Amino acid sequence: VVDISKLYGQSGAFTYDPGFTSTASCKSDITFIDGDKGVLLYRGYPIDQLAENGNFLETCHLLLYGELPNKQEYLQFRNRVTYHTMIHEQMNKFFSGFRRDAHPMAVMVGTVGALAAFYHDSIDINDPVQRDLAAIRMIAKMPTIAATAFKYSIGQPFIYPNNQLDYASNFLYMMFAVPCEEYKVNPVLSRAMDRIFVLHADHEQNASTSTVRLAGSSGANPFACIAAGIACLWGPAHGGANEAALKMLMEIGTVDRIPEFIKRAKDKNDNFRLSGFGHRVYKNYDPRARVMQKTCKEVLDIVGVKNDPLLQVALELERIALEDEYFVEKKLYPNIDFYSGITLKALGFPTSMFTVLFAVARTVGWIAQWKEMIADPEQKIGRPRQLYIGEPQRDYVPLDLRP
Ligand code: ACO
Repeated sequence: VVDISKLYGQSGAFTYDPGFTSTASCKSDITFIDGDKGVLLYRGYPIDQLAENGNFLETCHLLLYGELPNKQEYLQFRNRVTYHTMIHEQMNKFFSGFRRDAHPMAVMVGTVGALAAFYHDSIDINDPVQRDLAAIRMIAKMPTIAATAFKYSIGQPFIYPNNQLDYASNFLYMMFAVPCEEYKVNPVLSRAMDRIFVLHADHEQNASTSTVRLAGSSGANPFACIAAGIACLWGPAHGGANEAALKMLMEIGTVDRIPEFIKRAKDKNDNFRLSGFGHRVYKNYDPRARVMQKTCKEVLDIVGVKNDPLLQVALELERIALEDEYFVEKKLYPNIDFYSGITLKALGFPTSMFTVLFAVARTVGWIAQWKEMIADPEQKIGRPRQLYIGEPQRDYVPLDLRP
């Protein structure tokens, strides 16, 4: 706590908390994390139960409205989402304006922000009906936007949504189908995709969610707020970590090289860290990592690489690290990114799409948190203070007189 009366005679005190490691920016009843015990709950439900037994659209309903839907509510919700899966036809022209080699995350930031230009009937933040419509539109259109960005980058025709398919299958279809060939979605892979979406759906006040809330606190429209969240997620310390974990496993290559990398991770003169290990909040096994490990094995079985060398390296690395005094003492466990990179690669996604998939899944969390914030009567515009460490007041010196 800093007493600012010592600085320029102002009154009062504020906390100096770089990285907001111990500052709550809001009240929320959406997601709970107990990092010491390795617990993650959405509206009270453990993440592993939702990922194993539920599906992504149920989870969306839960995050948005507070309860799992009954059968009728589920069908209504699913119909509302599928009704909005198409994107405005003119948006396709917008995609074509990007360079072919544009990073899909750059395309996502631009196109999602531009949704506000297309959907004028869902940008009035003071109208709860419009807020809800914006939420449904975002959840429905994100897979279409993501797949369209991908198709454009590889020069293939855009694939329109198939509303006969479930959410995850439709996404895989839009990503990997080509007009001249039959494409059948493998149910095991689609289930894995759905589970990955559930695991990434929300994670309380992480950097991108805090960005969405901060942007929204000024009254900005929901599409602009989600675009801000996507921009934040793009950073390698946030959404890019699964790509780093995959690269590291590829660099290690074979099980016999693991001790060399463990040694490097423990060496304080080497700034190498085990990617996919450790977490700011989890000081125990990340509950999402367990489900992801299982999903990874299922996917590798189906795509015919049961003895995938990357998985062998990952499993052995985890085993060695969890028995190593350094990792035990520092409470460094695998996080969700440790197994998600291998899984996404096996599902056929190029690494440039990894963070995009994260954005598709996290959209429901962002929009649920945004809705909660707008409806909160205590909410104020986000305006952090700073600890000024610059020059005290001084007088202007004309250019000719400066030394
Ligand atoms: N490998 C080796 N040592 C590590 C690792 C690691 N992966 N992570 C932390 N440490 C060590 C640090 O060197 C530090 O050691 P010290 O006390 O001797 O200085 C100690 O553990 C604490 O590390 P901090 O960086 O202070 O912990 P913090 O909670 O701030 O960082 C973070 C968490 C950034 C995730 C860190 O563990 C890390 O860099 N991990 C690798 C990158 C990664 O996997 N990121 C994905 C996070 S999950 C997500 O964003 C979805």
